[in-house]
Amino acid sequence: MDYGLNNMPVKFLPRILVTAGPTREFLDPTRFLSNPSSGKMGYCIADEACKQGCSVTLISGPVSLTPLPIKMVHVISAREMFQTVKKYFHTCDVLIMTAAVSDYRPGNLSRHKLKKKKSPQTLALIPNPDILAWAGAHKKNQRLIGFAAETDHLLENARKKMLSKNLDMIVANRVGHQACGFESDKIEFAFLTPDQARISHPDFKIWTKRKLARELIQKAVKLYGH
Ligand code: CTP
Repeated sequence: MDYGLNNMPVKFLPRILVTAGPTREFLDPTRFLSNPSSGKMGYCIADEACKQGCSVTLISGPVSLTPLPIKMVHVISAREMFQTVKKYFHTCDVLIMTAAVSDYRPGNLSRHKLKKKKSPQTLALIPNPDILAWAGAHKKNQRLIGFAAETDHLLENARKKMLSKNLDMIVANRVGHQACGFESDKIEFAFLTPDQARISHPDFKIWTKRKLARELIQKAVKLYGH
């Protein structure tokens, strides 16, 4: 028999689905809306989950990281990521959504390059699906872990997301200061779970993304066991 994390037989470890990186929402063949997510957090989690014996699928937006030697699916837009999560959701025990999904896409996708004009332009945006909220509404035995990237009212906003998306845990992630930015190897965060949703001063830490990934896999295994 194969053994993984904490000498647990591999067959008792959760199957983990991870999303990582940004999505891109094209306006025309030469331009897109996106965000600076590097994908590092999700790749560290997928890598650690694999090292600790879990079976892992990684759904990755466009990033410049070396692909991992695990099952990977590459996507570009939020809608592609949504279709792919829907395809694999029933095969996982824990979904960890680190992806920085674009909340909107341009209302029109031009097949031709848009030419510049002298007058100010307005871009109509339409909302993208909320993938994690969909997972929260459709979960059966799966456990869901989200990331809340916030600049202000960190705990309040993270709690709201955790409860409204029906999550089992959220990583409240402070963004916007240089040492722990999107590209950084470090992250400032606190774990929140629904049972401690009212704790007003959770323990904020600044860790490497690698260390957080290791800890998060431990927590995912515990959540799965409950
Ligand atoms: N998420 C998602 N689908 C979206 C937006 C977000 O699945 N369309 C997921 C992210 O992967 C993350 C969590 O929801 O795990 C919170 O994402 P975040 O961007 O922090 O918050 P939003 O729900 O987009 O809300 P807001 O942009 O207003 O902060």
